[in-house]
Amino acid sequence: MKVTVVGAGNVGATCADVLAYREIANEVVLVDIKEGLSEGKALDIWQKSPINLYDTRTIGSTNDYSKTAGSEVVVITSGLPRKPGMSRDDLIETNAGIVKSVTENVVKHSPEAIIVVVSNPLDVMTYQAHLTSKLPRTKVMGMAGILDTARYRAFLAEALDVSPKDIQAVLMGGHGDTMVPLPRYTTVGGIPVTELIDEEPLNKIVERTKSGGGELVKLMGTSAWYAPGSAAAQMVEAIVRDQRRVFPVCVKLEGEYGINNCYLGVPVILGKNGIEKVIELQLDEKEMQLLKTSEGHVREVMEVLDKMS
Ligand code: NAI
Ligand code: 2OP
Repeated sequence: MKVTVVGAGNVGATCADVLAYREIANEVVLVDIKEGLSEGKALDIWQKSPINLYDTRTIGSTNDYSKTAGSEVVVITSGLPRKPGMSRDDLIETNAGIVKSVTENVVKHSPEAIIVVVSNPLDVMTYQAHLTSKLPRTKVMGMAGILDTARYRAFLAEALDVSPKDIQAVLMGGHGDTMVPLPRYTTVGGIPVTELIDEEPLNKIVERTKSGGGELVKLMGTSAWYAPGSAAAQMVEAIVRDQRRVFPVCVKLEGEYGINNCYLGVPVILGKNGIEKVIELQLDEKEMQLLKTSEGHVREVMEVLDKMS
């Protein structure tokens, strides 16, 4: 079974590496527009196989999509990352063109593939992939919620001095400053988090999570890749192994939460058909208000894309 990762930069190469060493696919094809980059990284990952003990084949391709033919899942990471001082939305003009041309090539060679978009601005690039591919919403989705939730869980684990494995949480909304972490749906080994931490430090963690991507951009001069690459690989795993995992995923809403035709992060069941089900939580008034604010922001950027085409 074959998985393609488009973009052999920081996030794409990390994702391909996780897919290979965890043997999530038999074959991973890495595509990039930069001559030799994907071939070199694919070869490097393959040469790690005798050390880390895996037999996934990794193949690089400079923009030759015939090598991607018949992929079950395609992860799109191609595009500019943000630099200090930029918001994710500032990337729209360049990345929309890249995601559009990549999606055309992907669909031409793998019409059955499920597409996982990573490029930013995430929610709107997922919309772009949907517009170009014309695939149903079950088969075009975006990765952001697993990453944002992981950041929230990691911060909580640190504050409570417990294993991050025991923190369960869900986070909704767009992948930006208006994302909606949900303390009411956060547990630590089954215990509601509000029984273990006071409101003030919890609020600080929520705020740090919202600007978690920006914190790393400030530190490194570019955006993160280890957690994003692993998060995308986790989505691929849920699909190819039909795990029916419950993850926050960016999907087109069709009436859920009273929202229509907008791409937003919500909890879903992820399995062999892609989005198997959108889960509708009973949000309280304040949580719903935060989700609507996030919707408003994503819609503004979706409109920018609509005007561009
Ligand atoms: P990067 O600059 O390291 O890699 C991007 C790669 O895309 C480059 O190697 C470039 O040559 C390639 N590329 C550009 N145009 C292409 C095309 N038409 N076809 C094939 N490849 C092409 O960037 P990085 O750090 O890997 O980030 C990639 C994207 O993912 C950015 O847009 C970034 O903002 C986004 N991102 C999204 C996250 C999320 O949670 N959704 C988290 C982290 C990054
Ligand atoms: C992140 O959240 C920039 O979207 C990227 O790390």
